[in-house]
Amino acid sequence: MNACSTAAPTSVEPTPDEHTPVAPSTMRAAVARSYGTAEVVAVEEVPTPAAASGEVLVSVEASSLNALDWHFLTGTPYLIRLVGGLRHPRRVIHGADVAGTVVAVGADVTAFEVGDRVFGECGGGGFAPLLTAKVGGLVPIPSGVTFEAAGATPVAGLTALQGLRTHGATTPGEHVLINGAAGSVGTFSVQIAKALGAEVTAVCSTRNVDMVARLGADHVVDYTADDFVEGGARFDVMLDNVGNRSAAECISVLRPGARYVAVSGPKDNRWLGPIPHVARTWFAFRRADATFHQFTASPNHADLEFLGELLAHGSVVPEIQRTIGLDGVADGLAEIGSAHARAKILVTPT
Ligand SMILES: NC(=O)c1ccc[n+]([C@@H]2O[C@H](COP(=O)([O-])OP(=O)(O)OC[C@H]3O[C@@H](n4cnc5c(N)ncnc54)[C@H](OP(=O)(O)O)[C@@H]3O)[C@@H](O)[C@H]2O)c1
Repeated sequence: MNACSTAAPTSVEPTPDEHTPVAPSTMRAAVARSYGTAEVVAVEEVPTPAAASGEVLVSVEASSLNALDWHFLTGTPYLIRLVGGLRHPRRVIHGADVAGTVVAVGADVTAFEVGDRVFGECGGGGFAPLLTAKVGGLVPIPSGVTFEAAGATPVAGLTALQGLRTHGATTPGEHVLINGAAGSVGTFSVQIAKALGAEVTAVCSTRNVDMVARLGADHVVDYTADDFVEGGARFDVMLDNVGNRSAAECISVLRPGARYVAVSGPKDNRWLGPIPHVARTWFAFRRADATFHQFTASPNHADLEFLGELLAHGSVVPEIQRTIGLDGVADGLAEIGSAHARAKILVTPT
């Protein structure tokens, strides 16, 4: 997940030629220099990063907000600080999603050239007009796909795709239950499950029922009025973006041979986050006639290219609730922290 570097940006030392635009030495970025909630995010002038060997410098046209950004902003669960920095965040600019144009290439880069349109997932840096990214996390944006669509897709699209296809092994005609269908991952999950040929039952709150149905869900359960555990339906795959039900309840709605895919879990343990809940669920599934799967999404070219094809084909159209600039990042992250964000919040940092 960590393919971009913005931790300690250094001033660019451009060697201009007729093909390489000169990057400015500083840029405005949404910066968080300490762990905290939205109040630690400020828009500041920072040095422009320079592409190291194996990296490209990307002019960011679009990024988007993800729960991942909230976890690295707050440094919770605390376990995440082993990666993000023990006392202070190593990376001060968040934003793991990126879509933009390559404006410079580092040494040993042959995959991309200046002017290429690219999208992908990186560890951070998207809430700034320029970021450096390792080429391993980027693929070309297919013709006809907008920067906005590409920038909304990487983290949430990869999570939904890997949850449903890699771990859920969803096949056409199977019945998929998506618990938590209205957020970043959920809105991609509904569309990708339909693209894989599944029948989809989606769980969300009242205000999101119409949106989730419009995205293609065959059946929508409003969890404020009904309970999917009591509904009588049985499923081949359960993609759990919430983790608010016991293992016994999840097992009770699964058909023999089904797959339960844990994307998330309760966040009430400040040190370990969902790990204790996930461990208990795994343990309970050992006796079930269904399998347990847990994963952390990671970027790879094949999955990003497949997502690009879905976007180009129109099988997946990112549901964007609003677009914000750098000045809106703090409020947008606060909304993500509420655990009831709706669909995608897009960031256009220029
Ligand atoms: N394993 C991984 O690699 C991976 C990757 C990405 C995200 N995640 C995790 O997956 C979770 C979802 O991520 P996200 O980006 O989609 O978050 P998000 O955009 O913040 O969306 C959260 C959604 O959860 C829904 N929700 C809250 N309580 C619910 C309930 N009781 N029943 C059904 N839905 C409920 C909300 O819909 P309503 O407003 O309708 O309640 C909201 O739309 C997060 O916990 C995140 O940390 C894991």
